[in-house]
Amino acid sequence: MIDVTASMVEEHRLILRMIALLEKNIDRMQKGLFDDWGFFLDAVDFIRSYADRFHHAKEEDVLFAELVNNGMPAKRSPVEAMLIAHDQGRAYVAAMEAGAKAVMAGDVEQVAAIYENARGYADLLRDHIDKENNILYPLAERVLPAEVRPRMVEAYRAAEAAAPAGLAKRYAALVERYEAQA
Ligand SMILES: [Fe+2]
Ligand SMILES: [Fe+2]
Repeated sequence: MIDVTASMVEEHRLILRMIALLEKNIDRMQKGLFDDWGFFLDAVDFIRSYADRFHHAKEEDVLFAELVNNGMPAKRSPVEAMLIAHDQGRAYVAAMEAGAKAVMAGDVEQVAAIYENARGYADLLRDHIDKENNILYPLAERVLPAEVRPRMVEAYRAAEAAAPAGLAKRYAALVERYEAQA
């Protein structure tokens, strides 16, 4: 049986490394030890381009769509819960971006908005990825029939081909750069 979730678990690894950076940097920010506000805008760019436009789009358009095609209800179901979390994530990210821009423009009170929204996003996504890795993806591997899998792999490849060239490499390099930051 062709695997349709291993590449998604792999993408989660890079997303979790960015979440760890967010957690580390907001903690340092609270102690007055971190003021690289550009990091938060880079994190917003990473989340929007890699986690959301790339990874979440593959889930929403391919994996979750096939689960619904193959018997999972679209409403009041694990798929709906995952889609709601994607939307909540987008709201946190928009608010974190607004907070970072405000701080960069001199409104230091908005450090609290960066903290709350980065914290909210990190907690949400850790829980979300945990549910996907340990519940929804294993379920998908059990229930998706062999005949739909080739077209799923094809659709993943098409999404990768449609993404900007070198997207995964570029964002892995971004994460590495901030991990190396003292
Ligand atoms: Fe997801
Ligand atoms: Fe995911």
